[in-house]
Amino acid sequence: MDHFAYRNRVLHCEDVPLPDLAAEYGTPLFVYSRATLLHHLTAIQTAFAPADPVVAYSVKTNGNLSICKLMAEHGSGFDVTSGGELYRALRAGSNGAKIVFAGVGKTDAEMRYGLENNVFLFNVESEEELFALGAVAQGMGRKAPVALRVNPDLPPKTHAKTDTSVKGVKFGLDIETVLEVAQRAVGHPGLEIVGLHMHLGSPILKAEPYQQGAAKGLQLIAELRKQGHPIAYLNMGGGFGIHYRKQEALPASAFAEVILPAVQQAKCRLVLEPGRFVVGNAGVLVSRVIFNKETGGKHYVIQDAAMNDLIRPTLYDSFHRIWPVAPAAGVPTPPDDFEAEIPGTLKQDVVGPVCESGDFLAKARNLPPLKRGDLLATFSAGAYGMAMASNYNSRLRAAEVLVTGGTHRLIRRRETFADLTACEESCVR
Ligand code: LLP
Repeated sequence: MDHFAYRNRVLHCEDVPLPDLAAEYGTPLFVYSRATLLHHLTAIQTAFAPADPVVAYSVKTNGNLSICKLMAEHGSGFDVTSGGELYRALRAGSNGAKIVFAGVGKTDAEMRYGLENNVFLFNVESEEELFALGAVAQGMGRKAPVALRVNPDLPPKTHAKTDTSVKGVKFGLDIETVLEVAQRAVGHPGLEIVGLHMHLGSPILKAEPYQQGAAKGLQLIAELRKQGHPIAYLNMGGGFGIHYRKQEALPASAFAEVILPAVQQAKCRLVLEPGRFVVGNAGVLVSRVIFNKETGGKHYVIQDAAMNDLIRPTLYDSFHRIWPVAPAAGVPTPPDDFEAEIPGTLKQDVVGPVCESGDFLAKARNLPPLKRGDLLATFSAGAYGMAMASNYNSRLRAAEVLVTGGTHRLIRRRETFADLTACEESCVR
């Protein structure tokens, strides 16, 4: 249930018309729906409830402090992948007991930061990392709680840039080497191997990879226990897909159906690291048309959101639904199928002002004729939108607004020109 709907031909987020928000806060603007965020978080919590899971919201997906706070207030923990994300999770009110620290390249300082805050699991991805963490922990008179991240060698087939469990990627320990590495850590005074972790890729639209991954996990857990490691956690990562085109994604229950039996068999506590599933369809990016342009036989609509605001189309050729916020009479609100031929539309490339031919939000997209000043909504922009935004071309990063029913609140102000040079001012000679 995503709380973005057209009422009287105007797109609303919950009970707030998006043109009101564009008028008040300007564009480009990320707009999030609190009800949608909580709906998706609850869907995961409910589907996996029989395993009493630790649901650790993946901060990299959307690290806005207000969103993280909302997650914390509703029982979520956090998956962090850098000292900066750990800082965000702590600032959001979480404590280490609900934080898992992931990432292939944790520095000693980050390990120390995690240990000082008693994170409950370090997902460890290499032998060097394991023993570096052991040394840091030992130096602090501590034992680091570890989940070994295994690369289970499965092909979930997401995108070459987001597959994380196929042979040859930088993530995890090869499945053939996990046990050798774990054996070498037996009895280490700074390490306690208490879990097994995998993250298969993102976004995943099928349950089978989780079923296969969990089955491989079960075997490994049995072997790790034989070595004497008290394995108490199975962390199945994130990666649950969402609707980007139409209704192509699975409900949380479909993933639970294949993961829960394995967890119960392993007698482990389940950890999950969902990001996109929670926040992806809880956000839209609102932009305003600047110009139309015909060139090379193509029609371009140039609007004020660009690759620096939402890089997914540029980076992964990702499909995001785009439609006018207030379509003219006779134009559907919105079409059932954005990829079908739609009467009254023409093929348009939706591009931004950035100086790169790769700066686009959509290519050859069926859209009604648009005019200067029209507002567009780019859907499914809550995940990996603002989180991957940059100041490229010295563009100001967008503002973010959180809607609750009929009310709205700025949760990140639009940047200013002064913000652009703030870190440089004190260094200017
Ligand atoms: N856990 C780990 C270890 C991860 O690496 C990730 C995402 C997650 C959890 C959360 O995955 P999710 O539930 O959000 O699928 N920028 C790309 C996605 C990169 C995913 C990176 N890792 C995109 O925009 O599609």
